[in-house]
Amino acid sequence: MSLTLEVLVVGGGIAGMNYAVQLADKAGGRKLRIRILSKATVHESSSFHAQGGVAAAMCAEDPFEDHVRDTLAVGEGRNDADVVRLVVKEGPAVIRGLIGLGAHFDRDRGGALHLAREGGHRAARVVHHRDRTGEEIVRVLQQRVRDIPVIGTVMDQRVIELLTEGEGAYRRCIGVRAVDLRTGDVVEHFAHVVILATGGAGRLFEHTTNPAGATGDGVAMGIRAGALTRDMAFVQFHPTALFTGVPGTVGLVSEAVRGAGARLIGITGRPVMAGVHPMGDLAPRHIVARAIHREMVRTGARYVHLDAGPIGIERFCAEFPGIAALCRDTGLLPGRDLLPVMPAAHYLCGGLRTDSHGRTSIPGLYALGECACSGLHGADRLASNSLLEALVIPRRAAETTWETRAPAAAPASQVIARDRLAKRPVEIVGRATAALTHAMTMHVGIVRKTEGLESALRVINCIERQVLPIWHRRRWSPALMDLRDLLVVARSVTEAALHEPVSVGTHFLEEPEPYDRPMAHIPGGSIN
Ligand code: SIN
Repeated sequence: MSLTLEVLVVGGGIAGMNYAVQLADKAGGRKLRIRILSKATVHESSSFHAQGGVAAAMCAEDPFEDHVRDTLAVGEGRNDADVVRLVVKEGPAVIRGLIGLGAHFDRDRGGALHLAREGGHRAARVVHHRDRTGEEIVRVLQQRVRDIPVIGTVMDQRVIELLTEGEGAYRRCIGVRAVDLRTGDVVEHFAHVVILATGGAGRLFEHTTNPAGATGDGVAMGIRAGALTRDMAFVQFHPTALFTGVPGTVGLVSEAVRGAGARLIGITGRPVMAGVHPMGDLAPRHIVARAIHREMVRTGARYVHLDAGPIGIERFCAEFPGIAALCRDTGLLPGRDLLPVMPAAHYLCGGLRTDSHGRTSIPGLYALGECACSGLHGADRLASNSLLEALVIPRRAAETTWETRAPAAAPASQVIARDRLAKRPVEIVGRATAALTHAMTMHVGIVRKTEGLESALRVINCIERQVLPIWHRRRWSPALMDLRDLLVVARSVTEAALHEPVSVGTHFLEEPEPYDRPMAHIPGGSIN
């Protein structure tokens, strides 16, 4: 190919940066330009805040098959078993690759990697950098991105639409439309290949461990452009977010804390996980989150307690310095004080449907990381498998990208409209967003009922009728852009949940019998 291959990456977290680095590394003299479009700094991405680590079968006592088995068990058979096998198999190689780039992971006294244990894992297999693994991986990738001249980052770009051309089998993605958040200009960026790596949609719910930018942008744009989705019913709630009573982003207390010995107890002192699951406090997340929810309903409290006493103050502060600092900010000393915790929206297991190379159903469009659904996770995600996926699939996507036929030079970016940002926040947008997150939390959260799902859909319809006319007047505030995308994802999650007739993984239907009935197990899975 003598033309320059033009690639746009939307989202500058770990999946997006890793893809860019891998693609550039594979260029081998071919001409390439990669633009990473980002609406916020990497410090505001979910991956930067990832505490736990990267799950990988790193030692002889932990064969791949066991990691595969745990992934399938937590996903309750809704995973794509081939994707699970290939991602798990590549785990040790990506860890070695990161170490080669200079990443520091914790080691034991003998120099071997220290492996943490998290929920759903029957073995300790989480490679980590204390409780700041995301930050460490971002550090090394960001350095590589800076060192590679063909990669450029364009900040303050809020991408609002995918651009496609052609019809039927010839339709392909040719770029994106974005609002420049500094100038308010609407800009069209063209490319031969577009990569969505926009992260999740935790902002659908009142409490989330995700940062403010987790508004489902990539999934929403993909759906509007007609891309297929998969497994949208499955939203993972992390069992232990630090309770503050304030809606929005809540601090995470990593599952590795329970892996190190902390235990969940109700406010009356009752062990939350006693008799619930053979893996106790380290059961799969949907089981633990549901048990906490049930305990909260039973006691009327808005949280349960995490007792880190078995870890001790000194060890806690050494192994979990980030979480200790978070607790200190609320006047708590882990190991001495009981920590009030509650479940919070954490991870969208579904997303734009991709193959194991990150290709969506629209030619020229890839999706990577949390906005994608490769089939790895199934109906619930095994802890620390998301960073693994964000390291493995982009590498495969980069290999495939070089097979792209670039038929002509992609036109440069062009401004198509000036000054489209609303001068003042529109009041109704704030109220509508609060109504949406409330409906999603009440009806599409940890415990669902058919009538509740239907009621959430009515709320979504009603908000759409009020808000979309404001969008069409073409004065857009960032909050309006977010709400427009959240509505698309909310509808997709809710409709997918209505199409799941029995409880599976994170999708728990309370009717006809409340709680305690065995989970349905659907081998093979289906596509929403
Ligand atoms: C955690 O550290 O508990 C979160 C890690 C993950 O979501 O995989």
